[in-house]
Amino acid sequence: MNAQINRYKQQAAERAVAYIRSGMVVGLGAGSTARLAIQHLGHLLREGVLKEIIGIPCAEVVAADAREQGIPLATLEDYPVIDLTIDGADEVDPRLNLIKGGGGALTREKIVAEASSREIIVVDESKLVPALGTGWAVPIEVIPFGHGSQRRYLESLGAVVNIRRKTDGSVYYTDQGNYIFDCKFGPIPDPAQLAHKLDARAGILEHGLFIGLASEVIVAGADGIRHITL
Ligand code: A5P
Repeated sequence: MNAQINRYKQQAAERAVAYIRSGMVVGLGAGSTARLAIQHLGHLLREGVLKEIIGIPCAEVVAADAREQGIPLATLEDYPVIDLTIDGADEVDPRLNLIKGGGGALTREKIVAEASSREIIVVDESKLVPALGTGWAVPIEVIPFGHGSQRRYLESLGAVVNIRRKTDGSVYYTDQGNYIFDCKFGPIPDPAQLAHKLDARAGILEHGLFIGLASEVIVAGADGIRHITL
């Protein structure tokens, strides 16, 4: 089963990389599917199929992977407009709204998505859901100052809140030095409205609801590869 899912992820990743042209500035997303895209991009650079690519990584861990693949990197300060970003997602609804942040990189992923002329999301078919929140918690990046107050606020919105921890039990910190609260809402009837409530709260730096940010999703599954566009 896992091997099959990995094959789907690989197929979706490779299909998205086929849209990269030499000379592009490319946003590099986080997670295992985006990582497969980075590996494939590295392969094409080494083979000389692609040239003069600049990568903008969404996380420190992504930067390390990309360096290993020999992908030249820069920052959004150097290149404020990205030609194409390839990123993964945790859930995708029928309107291509997303939950992201399973890897904790949601804030930089959203900044990179908003700076991208084109954002392609790559997923296996298990990520498609009728409503966001069906299987996943919404990751919410919270500034440590006053975090107890944010917990109460999130609970008042109906969330079951869990602070994210690493496998050794210690608290997980984002690249910005903040906490992630994984917030289980169950199926969310109006994700845009919830996103507004989260946006409106000081102390919540960012959240993993990506509303209207993706217009293309490549899904690989038992029926082959589908390129869904809005
Ligand atoms: C990273 O913070 C997330 O937004 C990822 O894009 C998401 O968790 C997808 O990960 P997989 O490709 O490993 O499923």
